[in-house]
Amino acid sequence: MLVLIDDANLEAIKRIYEFYPCDGVTTNPSILKKQGENPMEVLKAIREFLPDGAQLHAQVVSLTAEKMIDEAHHMLEVLGKDTYIKIPVTSEGIKAMKLLSKENANITATAIYTSMQAFIAAKAGARYTAPYVNRLDNMGADGVQVAKDIHDMFKMHGLNADVLAASFKNSQQVLNLCKYGIGSITAAPDVIEGLIKHDATANAVEVFTKDFYSLVGEGNTMENL
Ligand code: E4P
Repeated sequence: MLVLIDDANLEAIKRIYEFYPCDGVTTNPSILKKQGENPMEVLKAIREFLPDGAQLHAQVVSLTAEKMIDEAHHMLEVLGKDTYIKIPVTSEGIKAMKLLSKENANITATAIYTSMQAFIAAKAGARYTAPYVNRLDNMGADGVQVAKDIHDMFKMHGLNADVLAASFKNSQQVLNLCKYGIGSITAAPDVIEGLIKHDATANAVEVFTKDFYSLVGEGNTMENL
């Protein structure tokens, strides 16, 4: 399962990259707004930081297919390879996906709330489809189940598309999709950090360190024995 960082703050992205295995970064216009800077400059800085092969997902904001395609061309030119153009699953968006996929552009269908939206986007050529897990949960729907249904439908119909599950608020949502073999998830830095946090682990490390120090003296490690 690919793990992407759903953020545009370069310091936060660097911190997560330093400690955790990651496969790229996803953004949307609201995430970019939080930076309060020229969004293209923010995206360029993220691209410069990311290692070769890492994915960068960035969204078009135009409302017609023709304008979305112009915007996508510009973004691909500026941000280079391994850029995924996020396009919402409106009718104009689906039209843009159909046309852009003919040029072999990498497309991520976004703002997905139903499995049929994802199915149609994949048929239109989207490589990834992003169901909003937590937003669905907040609506009284089952976000994890929608993501699982999409995953199953892609397999059943032999579509060359994966789920890029998005909008997470806790580890349980991520775990449920991980256990199901979902292709990829994107989560905010705090959710990624929460994936390994456990008080019992911290306590165990504390006891191990104390026992070792009582044996060989405070501050000593295997390195100086
Ligand atoms: C991803 O495509 C979405 O933009 C993002 O994950 C939404 O997350 P939120 O529900 O936390 O805003």
